[in-house]
Amino acid sequence: MKAVALISGSGSNLQSLIDHAEKIDLDIQAVISNKEDAYGIKRAQKVNIPTHVLIHTQFPSREKFDQQLSQTIDQHSPDIIILAGFMRILTEEFTQKYAGKMLNIHPSLLPKFQGLNTHQRALDAKESEHGVSVHFVTAKLDGGPVIAQARVPILADDTVESLAQRVLIEEHKLFPKVVHWFTQGRLKLIDNHATLDGQII
Ligand code: GAR
Repeated sequence: MKAVALISGSGSNLQSLIDHAEKIDLDIQAVISNKEDAYGIKRAQKVNIPTHVLIHTQFPSREKFDQQLSQTIDQHSPDIIILAGFMRILTEEFTQKYAGKMLNIHPSLLPKFQGLNTHQRALDAKESEHGVSVHFVTAKLDGGPVIAQARVPILADDTVESLAQRVLIEEHKLFPKVVHWFTQGRLKLIDNHATLDGQII
């Protein structure tokens, strides 16, 4: 299945998808970054995936950026759009256009800790566990229907870095698994519910 991946940073989730691509029937046609220096661009180039850089600060508005982003995505006619560490709030128009075919990975047990600095906030809140969620993207920031989560315990001596590291290990397993459900046609967004094999998750 044809995919476009959007990134802003290191791209370790992108790498995991690249590594699993054949097994999960994923054909990543392009990687788009809103940051020129995102290491994920190099990861894509290494395996000859075309890359695009769209620097959001060079656009006069969020709408104009999203329009260009959308045009760039559409050049590749993807069946799935994968937000793999893409740190941008998207306009409603954009999210509606790709409703049901756009997945995001978020480093918290949603609905807890939407937005930024999730690891710090989980530590500050003295949570006993933390984790990662994969969800369909809707207009509500980090608020679309959750598809799957993986949990990690929070340890007494955890720092933001140690916790982030353990969550990332789970991210790299969970995202390819969920993307595979989608490429198999098992995962669908129906009436704003995530469904797997026709059952609401
Ligand atoms: C990951 O932890 C991902 O869950 C998070 O950014 C990181 C990207 O790492 N995404 C968000 O916070 C989205 N709101 P990576 O570039 O190494 O995949």
